[in-house]
Amino acid sequence: MVDRSSPPTRPPLSAASLVFRLAGIAVVVAVVAGAFAYVNGTFDPQRLTPKKLINVLETNNGVHPGFRRNHSKGVCVIGHFESSSEARNYSTAQVFNEERTPVVGRFALPAGNPYAPDNSVPIRSMALRFTQANGQQWRTGMNSMPVFPVGTPEAFYQFQQAQSPVPATGKPDPAAVPAFFASHPEAIPFLTWVKTAKPSASYVTETYNSVNAFYLVNSAGQRQAVRWSMVPVAQDAAGATAPAGGDFLEKDLVQRIAAGPLRWQLNITLADPGDPVNDASKPWPDGRKVLNAGTLVLESTQPQLNGECRDINYDPLVLPAGIEGSDDPLLAARSAGYASSYLRRTSEVSQLPAAKQEAQQ
Ligand code: HEM
Repeated sequence: MVDRSSPPTRPPLSAASLVFRLAGIAVVVAVVAGAFAYVNGTFDPQRLTPKKLINVLETNNGVHPGFRRNHSKGVCVIGHFESSSEARNYSTAQVFNEERTPVVGRFALPAGNPYAPDNSVPIRSMALRFTQANGQQWRTGMNSMPVFPVGTPEAFYQFQQAQSPVPATGKPDPAAVPAFFASHPEAIPFLTWVKTAKPSASYVTETYNSVNAFYLVNSAGQRQAVRWSMVPVAQDAAGATAPAGGDFLEKDLVQRIAAGPLRWQLNITLADPGDPVNDASKPWPDGRKVLNAGTLVLESTQPQLNGECRDINYDPLVLPAGIEGSDDPLLAARSAGYASSYLRRTSEVSQLPAAKQEAQQ
């Protein structure tokens, strides 16, 4: 009869086979650690990592706990998008088909210092998160300039380095930025625009541009390269010249929105074959077909320190089915860099009361 009451006994492991098994585990751990180190750029200090991109922004602007590492000064806005259906033949995204899609947005200054005066830069930004009825989201961050100064993350990094303090003086080298532009002729369209750009008195009178290119994809799988812009419906000369003082943009927005909802038209520009879709420093020629995809309606504001936009990462690659990213290398770098900034700032949120006090001083 077979005895089933006690489990079968295994012969003891020999010392050699124990060492062999432990070595196997060590190899697996080393491979995993190596993979993390590779992704982190440990083996190649020259490689541009998201960490390096965010570190250089911190070097130039200081660390302001709880705040975004770029576009730090801003305000949250709440509203919705009303589709015109004009883009529905180009994209299956629900946002272009539904009557209404809720939006949480943010206006900001493109600077890493949350206390920067509003007239310190001639650029303003608008970021939006559309939440479709099917749960998919479209997040987009747009700037008021029509093109970006550079086309690659490496050039963006070098541009930041040119603005970094040098050890001898503790200040940026005044010759570094002109030298950067002299060796980056791709910046000419941006520099031509910036020559006449003035800090506006209002977020409300600005046009905001995706700058990067994306694809719309329709139900037949056809892909159309596009860039988009939010164009203010109400043009108003009062927005043209910035007043004295450093903090007028948020006050102006709160005042205007209290008087009634604010509107922008979503214009989607269709690329012609041959237009550059992987280089945000290059403008597209005039005369391209433009769709009026609908109207953004903003109804209220919230302070950024406790508003709904605070904990949103406006990663430009969070896209619904029907919109896809292009091969523009800035998009992947933005996605990874914003995640790094997001992780840093959200882990510091407990320090926000101190930041609030700092802001009031
Ligand atoms: C490699 C290039 C770039 C880097 C490293 C970079 C970096 C950053 C970082 C770190 C933030 C803060 C993210 C957060 O904490 O949530 C940010 C915000 C933003 N960036 Fe960029 N950026 C780049 C290119 C661009 C381009 C091409 C645009 C064009 C439209 C853009 C538009 C914006 C906007 C609108 C915001 C504000 C988003 C918000 O309000 O939360 N950026 N950027």
